[in-house]
Amino acid sequence: MTLQQEIEAAMSAAFSQVIGAATAAPVVPAADLRFGDYQCNAAMALAKERKTNPRELATQVVAAVDLAGLGVAEIAGPGFINIRVSPEAFSRRIGALLGDDRLGVPECGQGRTVVMDFSAPNVAKPMHVGHIRSTIIGDALTRISRFLGYRVITDNHIGDWGTQFGMILHGWKTVLDQAALERDPIAELLRVYRDVNASAKSDPAVMDVCRRELVALQGGDEENLAIWRRCVELSRQGLQKIYDRLDVSFDHWLGESFYNDRLAPLVDEFLEKGLARESDGAVCIFSGGDLPAEQDPFRVHNKEGWSDNPAIIRKADGGFLYATTDLATLDFRIREWGAEAIWYVVGLPQALHFRQIFDACRRWGRVGDFRHIGFGSILGEDRKLMKTRSGDNVGLIEVLDEAVERAAQVVAEKNPDLPAEEAAEIAEAIGIGAVKFAELSQNRLSDYIFAWDRMLALQGDTAPYLQNSYVRTRAIFRKLEGSFETAGIEVALTEEREINLARLAIRYGEVVPTVLEDHRPNVLANYLLELARAFHSFYEACPVLKAEEAVRTSRLALCEVTSRILGHGLGLLGIRCPERM
Ligand code: ARG
Repeated sequence: MTLQQEIEAAMSAAFSQVIGAATAAPVVPAADLRFGDYQCNAAMALAKERKTNPRELATQVVAAVDLAGLGVAEIAGPGFINIRVSPEAFSRRIGALLGDDRLGVPECGQGRTVVMDFSAPNVAKPMHVGHIRSTIIGDALTRISRFLGYRVITDNHIGDWGTQFGMILHGWKTVLDQAALERDPIAELLRVYRDVNASAKSDPAVMDVCRRELVALQGGDEENLAIWRRCVELSRQGLQKIYDRLDVSFDHWLGESFYNDRLAPLVDEFLEKGLARESDGAVCIFSGGDLPAEQDPFRVHNKEGWSDNPAIIRKADGGFLYATTDLATLDFRIREWGAEAIWYVVGLPQALHFRQIFDACRRWGRVGDFRHIGFGSILGEDRKLMKTRSGDNVGLIEVLDEAVERAAQVVAEKNPDLPAEEAAEIAEAIGIGAVKFAELSQNRLSDYIFAWDRMLALQGDTAPYLQNSYVRTRAIFRKLEGSFETAGIEVALTEEREINLARLAIRYGEVVPTVLEDHRPNVLANYLLELARAFHSFYEACPVLKAEEAVRTSRLALCEVTSRILGHGLGLLGIRCPERM
């Protein structure tokens, strides 16, 4: 149990005893440390319910509560209860964390099956910095959920069956440069796509050829299918290189094409069950009529009032759409994998799409914890959407290369004597870590500005700052003669800065589960920054290796726990920690 849970159990027992009925009394970390470490505001609501005086109720509870030596409870204001944890309780907990592989984090996932849908770039189109958000957030949420005990299945739902293939096929047959394709398949496919796209825009005849190529592909033409397969394979290899570098992996790569055969029967079923109907030759899903208009994704409000906002699942020409594929995908994940939850990490512009899919699935009888985990845009330092000089979206590879290059400069300045190979490895960890942390420390819903200097600074809210803090904690143990034996240690913390650091270290087990309350990795990222700051302020004021025995051991224990949390927490965010830098 976390400290918070233990205190909450004690408070709930006391409230139940005083009231004479079982009741839960939530305990939260104190907003202001001057009043205590935790607080419980249950007296207010309970007194109101029972028409008694909250302060009197709180007084009875404080008299009755048995905190079992964890600390003391005090009343403030109209009936708030503040709990101040004793230094002994903090010390005991730090001692316990030394022998705890989970660092105090409870397993709350109970093996529930979650499908994590993230990254999902489109084949033969560049994976741009927008996709970086999905990839990094999705990977961090995967690591965190797995650690919390969920059974997580990661699936890269790549866009491998779009209309772009008409152009690619035509380009493949007319303007492909084989040598370039072998050198850098993704770049060459992109060039081909752009080349044809440009001529199709100015020449309707080219557009027509592309359309015919697409129809042939969809009709099962062998030559076109072979080219398509090769394109997908090459793109996958190119993407894999990026994922390797980012340390991201997937259990499955079931792209859109995987669902081709399921689309026609799905549309038929929707028609049969009355979940969809024909409209101007197309098949559409309309409102189910059972939701208030404001919550109904199939209704929109405009000047004339409310009107229909259907989702097309089969076009008049027989073609299927993104929504059709997503319905088939959701169904497959539930039936084949037993998904109880499906979490989609996709940009905010697709919010309506997912609301429609989820509502249609609900009416179709597919239930579960379906969630769109949206995010905003990445902006350049000019606050506009990030573009290169030629107006393109910035490629992901270029961003990573530049990050590592800049990190190499930071490393060279800080530690010029490192062997070249190690320096390069460290630069990779810092550069990639910096890009990831810049993403993960933001509220995912807001747009964020991509600023090199800010994300690579050794002092600031950055990955390098945290990595450097970790390195400093490791350095203490390197200077230690012999190893640090943690078994049977008595921890006794007394100094204010020791207590401050211990309080934060103990909160790790409380913070990690809250990340999933709203799928916000920034909750963990910001906690780690706070922990690192508390460590530095402790380390400035409290000598460790030079302290006298007993104090020295206690402080070493505190450093060890801090070090492990920093390393572990960064690991949950998908960020590596070098031992030196
Ligand atoms: N390929 C899509 C895009 O780049 C993202 C797919 C997200 N996943 C899904 N099941 N719709 O916009």
